[in-house]
Amino acid sequence: MTPVTRIPVRTKPRAYDVLLGTGVLDRAGSLLRSRLKLRNELIVVVSAENVWKHWGARLTKSLDRAKLRWTHTLIPDGERAKTLSTVESAAEQLTRLGADRTSALIAFGGGVIGDMVGFLAAIYMRGVRVVQIPTTLLAQVDASIGGKTGVNLTTGKNLVGSFHQPQCVLIDPQLLATLDEREFRAGIFEILKCGVIADRSLFESLERDRDRLLAREKKMLERSIEAAVRVKAAIVSKDERESGLRRLLNYGHTIGHALEAETQYKHFLHGEAVAWGMIAAALIGVASGKTSAKDAQRITTAVLQYSPLPVVQSNTHAIVARTASDKKTVGGKNHFIVATAIGRAIVISDVPTDVIARAVDQIKRLSR
Ligand SMILES: NC(=O)c1ccc[n+]([C@@H]2O[C@H](COP(=O)([O-])OP(=O)(O)OC[C@H]3O[C@@H](n4cnc5c(N)ncnc54)[C@H](O)[C@@H]3O)[C@@H](O)[C@H]2O)c1
Ligand SMILES: [Zn+2]
Repeated sequence: MTPVTRIPVRTKPRAYDVLLGTGVLDRAGSLLRSRLKLRNELIVVVSAENVWKHWGARLTKSLDRAKLRWTHTLIPDGERAKTLSTVESAAEQLTRLGADRTSALIAFGGGVIGDMVGFLAAIYMRGVRVVQIPTTLLAQVDASIGGKTGVNLTTGKNLVGSFHQPQCVLIDPQLLATLDEREFRAGIFEILKCGVIADRSLFESLERDRDRLLAREKKMLERSIEAAVRVKAAIVSKDERESGLRRLLNYGHTIGHALEAETQYKHFLHGEAVAWGMIAAALIGVASGKTSAKDAQRITTAVLQYSPLPVVQSNTHAIVARTASDKKTVGGKNHFIVATAIGRAIVISDVPTDVIARAVDQIKRLSR
């Protein structure tokens, strides 16, 4: 039988496990039956056409074999569909399918599906259980863990949502076989981020084994995902609601979010914007005396070896202005996460605007 790695997540509302391993998808039915102590409760898999087309048959087989009472529904995915109205239609669909308070949802898709279905589970009949089965690299190492759920408004991303921890998270790296190259690379930057902030040996393995990772070699993929999940799980276990430690996970995100917003979320995938943001944060770290020039160079080289990345063309001042209005900003200050060594990071505040501007100019030059 496939070996399954268990990574515990301990948040205040609930302790749960991430179960990770190649072939976990085929064991989903029996894992869910035992983990959720299921008898005859209705399970509703909520997925997207794109994912279901590739992997629906495998999940079906596994749920049937465990003799679960289950059904599925497909909803639109992609950032533009991540809205209250999609969640509302899905909720209507749940009632038509006969889902009640004892039912559990399975979010089977990328981060968009995970966030929407997590949110749906948080509010449907005032809260039902949810299991995350993430199918993109970004969702496997980041979005599916920690219980943040939500949708976008026209006025901004993730502005409506709630914390709703899953019962468990099932991660099968095999699911990534059908993911397109650009989406796959974009997920790698979140893994690299985990290395920079908390796991030097993860960072070094990504530095060293680029080709193996890009080839999605089984062992390399399993190990990289596991290490990143351990970083995220450890951080959210200590700090569910993003007051202190959890902010370290935003390494590269201050500039990354600004780049995404400034290009109307059309030019960069999230991970790609974070990639540029990680380099900018390294430069800001050097200017602030927190990051050594050598470590900044290593971070820059490590990021760029997973390129191509979209070119950065936005107006420098517009980017700098957005860093002060970042969602994570408290009281108008800016905050940056900077590395004090590879594998260690801290939060710094009130970085002078000319320092940020120089870092942005530098990534613009690098991107040409
Ligand atoms: N909750 C959190 O803590 C958290 C953290 C990070 C990101 N997010 C959210 O995650 C979202 C981004 O998630 P994403 O990058 O996974 O994007 P996504 O969910 O939009 O998926 C990207 C694309 O890949 C397709 N896809 C998914 N799995 C596939 C597979 N196995 N094979 C082939 N195609 C597949 C999807 O249909 C989609 O077209 C954003 O909305 C972001 O806000 C949430
Ligand atoms: Zn991110």
